[in-house]
Amino acid sequence: MEGAERRVGSMRIGVLTAGGDAPGLNAAIRAVALMALRDGHEVIGISNGWSGLADYTARPLKEQDLAGVVGLGGTLLGTARYDLDNPAGGRDRVLANIAEHLDGLVAIGGDGTQRISHWLAERGAPVVGVPKTLDNDLLGTDYCIGFDTAISIVAESLDRLYTTAASHHRVMVVETMGRSTGWVAALGGLAGGADLIVVPEFPLTMEDIIAHLVRRRSAGYGFSIVAVAEGVNLSTLGGTEAGELSTEGVRGVRLATRGVGHFVAKRIDEHGGFEVRTTVLGHLQRGGSPTAYDRIWATRVGAAAYEAAVEGTFGVIPLVRGAEIVLRPLEVVAGGQRRLPRELYDLCAAFF
Ligand code: F6P
Repeated sequence: MEGAERRVGSMRIGVLTAGGDAPGLNAAIRAVALMALRDGHEVIGISNGWSGLADYTARPLKEQDLAGVVGLGGTLLGTARYDLDNPAGGRDRVLANIAEHLDGLVAIGGDGTQRISHWLAERGAPVVGVPKTLDNDLLGTDYCIGFDTAISIVAESLDRLYTTAASHHRVMVVETMGRSTGWVAALGGLAGGADLIVVPEFPLTMEDIIAHLVRRRSAGYGFSIVAVAEGVNLSTLGGTEAGELSTEGVRGVRLATRGVGHFVAKRIDEHGGFEVRTTVLGHLQRGGSPTAYDRIWATRVGAAAYEAAVEGTFGVIPLVRGAEIVLRPLEVVAGGQRRLPRELYDLCAAFF
């Protein structure tokens, strides 16, 4: 982690985005690439995450490639969920290609990506991470690229659903992203005035959910909006785990096919007395332009990653603590998920 001499004009810096896309990725790529180009370095854009590094699908980036991308969603490099261990040998090809082609690599991605970055750095590869996950559950950082945009979309969706729910006196169940944690449901729900938020960290039963809806109705509320994180445990709700395995990358369950939002809505409907509708926000939360906040912080963490690489400080990732950026070893983010804290959920619940 010790900083070495800053190398001006002599490095070949690769940049890649891996895992699910998120609004703000282009702002981070732009920060790394423009700063490097203006310092006279060469920048190599690796296509489609680790798969592009395994088979070395890459191209030099020029300043013109970065024009107008700060506010563009998606990733100009492409991304993929790619399993470097299946078929075996992917990691070794990545190590070999870094050694052959690059003096530094900035890997922008979530926990899966940063576990690979950490593995590579442990073997001497010159890798710096950048924190990205729309789910906001990377350990050790208060900021992950894409989360602010996602919760803004959730909040706007709840605003829109509120008017139709109120007009029809309905219960609206809204399923948000959040594979293992409830950050998107909770903070999107808080901003959008959700009347109940169901997250994996603080399980509720169907009885709890229905009792709350009955209470609200008795208190004179003709409608309710229930935000449910896609990763909520179905068995806690009285269902059985379901869902199709992804055919892409490390084969986790595709949560959208588990249908927790539809499950909750069906159970409320079966209880009787409520007219219920379901909205699955899905990839709308990942598409389109990043918020200004995501553009600014993606630029800041991208710039910090570039600075680390150019100073020869590898095996690290810039993390956000409060309003500060701190460089920490990659292993900090590689070991699990950051859970929604109790006090934040209690704050949400104060408005149910
Ligand atoms: O990990 C981020 C995430 O957006 C999750 O919230 C969601 O379950 C998953 O990606 C969806 O991935 P895919 O686009 O591969 O279906």
